[in-house]
Amino acid sequence: MPLVELTGVSKVFHSQSGPIQALTDCNVVVDEGEFLCIVGPSGCGKSTLLNIIAGLETPDSGSVLVKSKPVTGPGPDRMVMFQEAALFPWLNVIQNVAFGLKMAGMGRKERRERAVALLAMVKLSVFSRSWIHELSGGMKQRVALASALAHDPGILLMDEPFAALDAQMRDQLHVELESIWQKTGKTILFVTHNVREAVRLGTRVLLMTARDGRIKREYPIGLPRHRQLEDIDLVKIASVIRDDLRQEVIQSNKREYIV
Ligand SMILES: Nc1ncnc2c1ncn2[C@@H]1O[C@H](COP(=O)(O)OP(=O)(O)OP(=O)(O)O)[C@@H](O)[C@H]1O
Ligand SMILES: [Mg+2]
Repeated sequence: MPLVELTGVSKVFHSQSGPIQALTDCNVVVDEGEFLCIVGPSGCGKSTLLNIIAGLETPDSGSVLVKSKPVTGPGPDRMVMFQEAALFPWLNVIQNVAFGLKMAGMGRKERRERAVALLAMVKLSVFSRSWIHELSGGMKQRVALASALAHDPGILLMDEPFAALDAQMRDQLHVELESIWQKTGKTILFVTHNVREAVRLGTRVLLMTARDGRIKREYPIGLPRHRQLEDIDLVKIASVIRDDLRQEVIQSNKREYIV
């Protein structure tokens, strides 16, 4: 039984410049425990796809099932992480991680224990009393990850979570996220502009088309873990996908010119 199943999903936005076909007939099946990376040119519909699975947007047509049940809105089984960490600046690190649990009615002792364990998992134990403004970008993303994991969601939806970080911090977070994924068995859907990042982390990479938001191709990634960004096989696969992506951008620019 697939964990997430999108069938014939389409979405049009009505903007000031006219209708925008954000997604067209998207069919995606994600199995439990997969690490699915989604790449595609800017504006191709990646975030829209993720937001529809998160229940933050509704499709115009098609069906979105999680564990065979239609998605009708956001839920604690699907946690979202964005490029900028969405944190509460008036709470310290551990209070941020425990906040959702408090809202869910979990007792003080239990949520504290849980938050302490999560902060250890994201390697932030020493900073548990720090304020958010005292943290680096990478540390903020770790707090966001711990907060998302607090609800023990089956599915993590990550929208370019490391795009704003420097290369070294990104590298470190790749290692940590991979280890958390392996330890917890979560299913991860991860949007990125960075093809090498996708090949490093993904069990599969989906490439979307430039203009109308279709799934163009999928690349299963069978490389052994733990992958390094410089691995020769990884670089080769990434360059095939990048060429495919480049063609997509060229085609889309041509179509724009003709229109
Ligand atoms: N709320 C909205 N109202 C109008 N148009 C929207 C809205 N959200 C997205 N769009 C449009 O839908 C298309 C797909 O947007 P989306 O944000 O999903 O792209 P993306 O692939 O995530 O882009 P990026 O890589 O730049 O983040 C874009 O053309 C965008 O302008
Ligand atoms: Mg986006």
